[in-house]
Amino acid sequence: MNAVRAIAERTGRHCLLLPSNRLGLYLALRHWCTPGQRLLMSPISADEILFLVLAAGLRPVIAPLSRRDGNIDAARADLGAVDAVLTTNLYGLPDDVTAFTGKIVIEDVAHAMETSLGGRPLGTFGQAGVFSLSKHPGAGSGGVLAVDDPADLHALERARDLLLEPGVLRNELIAVASSMARQAALRLDLVRPALRLMRALGMQEEREGYRIALRGPDLDLALKQAPELPPFDPWVQADLHDYRTRRGPLARWYQSRRVAKVPRERARRVAGVRRLAELPCAAPAVREQVEQPLFRVPLLVRERDQAIAELERNGVATGYLYDPPYDEYAPGFTEPSPEPEAARWWARHVLPVDPLYAARALPALERLTPA
Ligand SMILES: Cc1ncc(COP(=O)(O)O)c(C=O)c1O
Repeated sequence: MNAVRAIAERTGRHCLLLPSNRLGLYLALRHWCTPGQRLLMSPISADEILFLVLAAGLRPVIAPLSRRDGNIDAARADLGAVDAVLTTNLYGLPDDVTAFTGKIVIEDVAHAMETSLGGRPLGTFGQAGVFSLSKHPGAGSGGVLAVDDPADLHALERARDLLLEPGVLRNELIAVASSMARQAALRLDLVRPALRLMRALGMQEEREGYRIALRGPDLDLALKQAPELPPFDPWVQADLHDYRTRRGPLARWYQSRRVAKVPRERARRVAGVRRLAELPCAAPAVREQVEQPLFRVPLLVRERDQAIAELERNGVATGYLYDPPYDEYAPGFTEPSPEPEAARWWARHVLPVDPLYAARALPALERLTPA
């Protein structure tokens, strides 16, 4: 089944295929918000999310963070002071999305393709839900935007087409082959040599710690052109340089294959979540979500960097670390959280573990001290 049909069936919504989730978030923010509006967002999410919010001409208002789940602490956020909310659903743990009723709500469900809230799939609560095919499906890239009204879908489709760059078959072949190689390395327990090879070949994106370089003066110049997206490409592309490149039949065939695997992996994923939830260092909300096929299980550990190295020795790579929080990372470009401490603590200590590889990870995890 193709990716759009799968998400349409899950959400009961009208869906649009995209080369990435990040392009979909930008399109949704442009469609429902007006430049200059204030957008409440979590301090902990992928780098590109902050930059696409800036590209859309919005003012990022950084929310207090919940220590339970690493999402916006809705009870402590000043909802009266914002026009719109962008949820994160970090690692698949659901945001308290019903608390934002009455605001424009855009749901980033990149990590939450399989998460429900009160029996209702995430991605169906806000004006738009934006899925990522590189997360649960592991398709290397791809996104799906889900909306209620076909008229919105058509407007978003036209806006998408104006931003798409033409595809190049050779690049698409390389991208699909690299994703297949990554999946094979994981299955065959070859993560360590694969990571070493990628580092030797310079295939990993350059970072300062866990974030891409901010380049503040250049960002100031790009901001003068907001809400145009292309001036923000150097930031929004982060680790996916072809994030707004049109995909052809090969990528779509691969995405369909990978999306078809998601339901088949569901039971294994939930079993992994259950095992990891028993660890004393599991984030508190994980224990209430043991039936959800989370993307990653967040643990909160004292010695995170040592744990990452130990996991790598066991054949488990760690990714999706968003440290420091946005307001510390990009102070001049965000309205800071009134209570930054919880986010700082969470960003420093969280260790996201893939529940599909819980058995491989557990020997290293059982020795860890909770943060
Ligand atoms: C929370 C979150 N949202 C969105 C994205 C962007 O997804 P995509 O790579 O499909 O643009 C990521 C990517 O890592 C992510 O972690």
